Amino acid sequence: MTNGIAAGRWLFAQNCAFRLGVADPDGLPPPDRDEVAFAGRSNVGKSSLINALTGRDNLARISNTPGRTQELNFFALPAEAAGALHLVDLPGYGYARESKGKIAAWQSLTRDYLRGRACLRRVFVLIDARHGLKSNDHATLNILDEAAVNYQLVATKIDKISETESDTLAAALAEAARARPAAHPDIIRTSSRTKAGIDELRAAIARLADLESLGYKAGGTDR
Ligand code: GTP
Ligand code: MG
Repeated sequence: MTNGIAAGRWLFAQNCAFRLGVADPDGLPPPDRDEVAFAGRSNVGKSSLINALTGRDNLARISNTPGRTQELNFFALPAEAAGALHLVDLPGYGYARESKGKIAAWQSLTRDYLRGRACLRRVFVLIDARHGLKSNDHATLNILDEAAVNYQLVATKIDKISETESDTLAAALAEAARARPAAHPDIIRTSSRTKAGIDELRAAIARLADLESLGYKAGGTDR
């Protein structure tokens, strides 16, 4: 199997643009194009990863304050293409400092989105390399398994741990993925800081998109 690194680089060399932020289910855009979403605990690095993928510092908003991403944020890639892929930055879960009502509203919006989105090609579930899978991660994976939504585990912030710890984590995540019906078996390890794993994740996303219709001309054997 070829790895698609060049296709991933091509896709993410295109201009990417914020399209809309959605705070309630009625505001979702029509499900008329492929989507990939980024889910994970608050502060896991979802917004940072979208910036690293797109090579932009401030496309998705990053904050030291957990709970910063409070809406479903849709980004179009390539920005100008009809039928462009949507990247979706989801609100983080496990954040306790907001009001209960607000947390419940984000949670039900995110759940409804994850359960009912026909055009959702894959959810990348981000796991902080320092913490591993927590109970609220398992709750999210349960939702995805029950809804039969294709998903893949992505470790974030691997710059914060040693190589040995990274191998141990990857083995643990792979074992967890094996036990789950809708999980992709491969674990991608990333750092938005060092850019480790970013090309690999770009390639995984490119494999899910209809690149030719977006203007990609496959050259050589990459794809
Ligand atoms: P919410 O929107 O609150 O759900 O958070 P998020 O998952 O979008 O996290 P965000 O990207 O805002 O990052 C949270 C914090 O982690 C910020 O201080 C980032 O600078 C930091 N961070 C993100 N990715 C990395 C990484 O790869 N390495 C390191 N060392 N820090 C990171
Ligand atoms: Mg965010």
